[in-house]
Amino acid sequence: MARLIGGLATSHIPAIGGAIAKGLQSDPYWKPFFDGFPPIHDWLARVKPDVLVVFYNDHGLNFFLDKMPTFAVGAAAEYANADEGWGIPTSPPVAGCPDLSWHIIRHLMAQEFDIVTCQEMLVDHACTLPLKLFWPNDAVAPVQIVPIDINTVQFPLPTAKRVYKLGKTVGAAIQSWRSEQRVAVLASGGLSHQLEGERAGFINKAFDQQFMESMVSNPEWATQFSDTELVDRAGTQGVELLMWLAMRAALTTAGAGVRKVHSHYHIPISNTATGVLALEVLA
Ligand code: DHB
Ligand code: FE
Repeated sequence: MARLIGGLATSHIPAIGGAIAKGLQSDPYWKPFFDGFPPIHDWLARVKPDVLVVFYNDHGLNFFLDKMPTFAVGAAAEYANADEGWGIPTSPPVAGCPDLSWHIIRHLMAQEFDIVTCQEMLVDHACTLPLKLFWPNDAVAPVQIVPIDINTVQFPLPTAKRVYKLGKTVGAAIQSWRSEQRVAVLASGGLSHQLEGERAGFINKAFDQQFMESMVSNPEWATQFSDTELVDRAGTQGVELLMWLAMRAALTTAGAGVRKVHSHYHIPISNTATGVLALEVLA
């Protein structure tokens, strides 16, 4: 069976793509953010995942407000990026892993998750930027991906409890996949941020730090909050932290717990509190 080896999480902000394109990683504004990654690069070079299941939220590139699935699983051989209007360069297509996609889809359906399946799916900055951040020296990250989109854009959102269950079910699916591949799970989004309205620029450091700590020692902690409570604490776009919850829930199904490889928190980049995390599943 496949091995679930660990989890990654990072914030995604289009301006990061601009900084990478301009080579600004050592610039005083950007250095404290990019400094969060080298220990995770070392870990990835050692553990070498083959396939990455990516929990992310599409921001209008593939799904718009007229048709908004709550959960959508990619089942394509390849995922293309396209211009989202942020002024960042588009990325080359990323290889998919249809065999694992369909295995996860069948498993989710059998467990009563009525998901949307996508045999074509454009992936936006939330899917492409983490690949650039975690594999900065590769034109295309040396992994196949299974993108899983979770709606955090249009209300009503799935509850944190439901997202946690989704993550657990995806974790069980990965481990029942007949394959010798090494699989990691990635979460893209958060932490606290709000891009519009009276609270634009809102950041909640105390909440973010408690949330990041819960990712290591108390994975169900955030399932106590409703969608509006999460907006209150983390901001309208801070609800993207649901991706972290799905990733962490997947890891609860594997091994004998997790070890924190590295974490990093820096505020702000653009309007967002940035968090980075890597967790290794203990054998
Ligand atoms: C920003 C943050 C996001 O999560 C996003 O998707 C787009 C922009 C920002 O802080 O600029
Ligand atoms: Fe976002």
